Amino acid sequence: MADFESINLDFLHARAALKWGPWDRDVISLSVADIDFPAPREIKEAVINAVNEDRTPYSAYGGDPDVLDAVCEKLNRVNRIPATPDDVHMIPGTMFAIFLVCYHFLNQGDEALISPAPVYPPFIHNVLNTGAVPVFNPLDFQHGARLDVDDLKARITPRTRMLMVCNPHNPTGRVLTLEELECIARLADEHNLLIFADELYEDMLFEGEHISLASLSKEIYERTITVFGFSKAFGIPGYRIAYITTRSRYKKELKHRIHDMIVHADTLAQAAAKAALTDGKAWLGEFMSHLKRVRDYGLDRLSRTPGVWCREPEATPFLFPNIASFGMTSEEMCEYLREEAGVIVMNGAEFGPPGEGFIRINFATAHSVLKEAMDRMEAAFKRLA
Ligand SMILES: Cc1ncc(COP(=O)(O)O)c(C=O)c1O
Repeated sequence: MADFESINLDFLHARAALKWGPWDRDVISLSVADIDFPAPREIKEAVINAVNEDRTPYSAYGGDPDVLDAVCEKLNRVNRIPATPDDVHMIPGTMFAIFLVCYHFLNQGDEALISPAPVYPPFIHNVLNTGAVPVFNPLDFQHGARLDVDDLKARITPRTRMLMVCNPHNPTGRVLTLEELECIARLADEHNLLIFADELYEDMLFEGEHISLASLSKEIYERTITVFGFSKAFGIPGYRIAYITTRSRYKKELKHRIHDMIVHADTLAQAAAKAALTDGKAWLGEFMSHLKRVRDYGLDRLSRTPGVWCREPEATPFLFPNIASFGMTSEEMCEYLREEAGVIVMNGAEFGPPGEGFIRINFATAHSVLKEAMDRMEAAFKRLA
């Protein structure tokens, strides 16, 4: 059994440079979307084996054949996407796909329609970096954070080039329903839009079912570039490994672009990816039981805190409470919690304007750490009330 009840703070301060590195020892970081636990033994052993097998030469562009086979088996069985190795490309991290689609498809003045919004900030940054405009389709927080289809329709213009969908959704933890996905697919068909689907959090599901957009129909697979990764559910973001799948007519040129940039993804990281797919299930089951326990605990604590409102996330390691009633911006609240409670959370407004009034809490840690952070935040909120 893996141990999810304690964390090694010395290790995290030394190695988790983004999440824990910047902060003093008495500060608790619930910010960057790292999990605080070591990777599964099966993944570590696969990397060690790959080192011992001298997997040092240049390998195939799209990915090592055995890795692509494992990816395709999973895509067909789990995601119901009829992928063959030719439809897949291993890449150095999910983020690379966000960069790639923006860099390749967007031009100055184009619009990228982000649905749902708010969204993982690099979606916004990469759109802006190309000179294009991010257009936000905010979730309807008044009605269970459901997709606002009328708003989505209204935001499509002749300049809309791409629909960018993050599902399961960072930061709210929503999992889009079949009905919602079909609306997105129908609009993309009607307006001949390319779809970029980031499904990185597919394995971090507490309730419901994750449905891949590209599984809806042959036509949708042909207009969709989907990215899946290993950074979150298997806790290996440092290995920088993910994969895209598409049957779009842009497949060949996208592959050439990747070859021109990186040749191929790291062979050791690919071995880790294969182990996650083939041997990671037992560990993942244990991890998700722990994560559900801490989600329920965190949600219960927030729901008892006057002035805070938080919906239950069906997936992801995130709680996304609304704190607008305290009369502070999200940024001010983050600063306040850092100074007054010694707890680091993320500013909802960094996820785009629809995230203003919210903060994001990453609960993928030990129960004792989350409890201490919740105690401190609750006391800080009470002082404001
Ligand atoms: C929605 C989403 N996409 C991509 C990434 C980046 O993933 P990777 O580490 O695989 O590049 C993150 C990281 O938090 C994310 O939340």
